[in-house]
Amino acid sequence: MAILEILTYPDERLKQLAEPVTVFDQALHSFLRDLEETMRAGPGGVGIAAPQVGRFQRIALVDCSVTRKPVPNHGLLVLINPEISEWEGMTVGREGCMSVPDYTGNVIRAERIRLQAFDADGVQHEYQCEGFEARALQHECDHLDGMLFLDRLVSRRNDLFRRKVYQK
Ligand code: NI
Repeated sequence: MAILEILTYPDERLKQLAEPVTVFDQALHSFLRDLEETMRAGPGGVGIAAPQVGRFQRIALVDCSVTRKPVPNHGLLVLINPEISEWEGMTVGREGCMSVPDYTGNVIRAERIRLQAFDADGVQHEYQCEGFEARALQHECDHLDGMLFLDRLVSRRNDLFRRKVYQK
């Protein structure tokens, strides 16, 4: 296992479109273990996407069970080639990102989503998620399309905040 290096804004590689995974092999499992270790090592890390560690494939992890916020969640979700198929409601919430370590921002997201994704063995699953978990999933899916939460701020002046301390 290894903790991988995180690319940080304004690294241009974070804008790269990630490619779908086509091979579900031991190398993928091994990468997923490293990715999870990297996520857990980060302060407040409830999610991570492969492009953040310089691997431009459609792979992300989300685990909202570690946050202190009282939220419904699925525990650790391994998301390979995830596709959001339904969006419902809109809500503003504060987001952070391991690739934007010094700031948080207010971002508008869907309140509830339906999402399909493959697991590490290539089996497809469907998830219905809401609240903070739905937000985290939308944030990680954005990374696969080369987008950061910074790209979704309505106003940098009003919606961007310098971080003082890390919180889970
Ligand atoms: Ni992020």
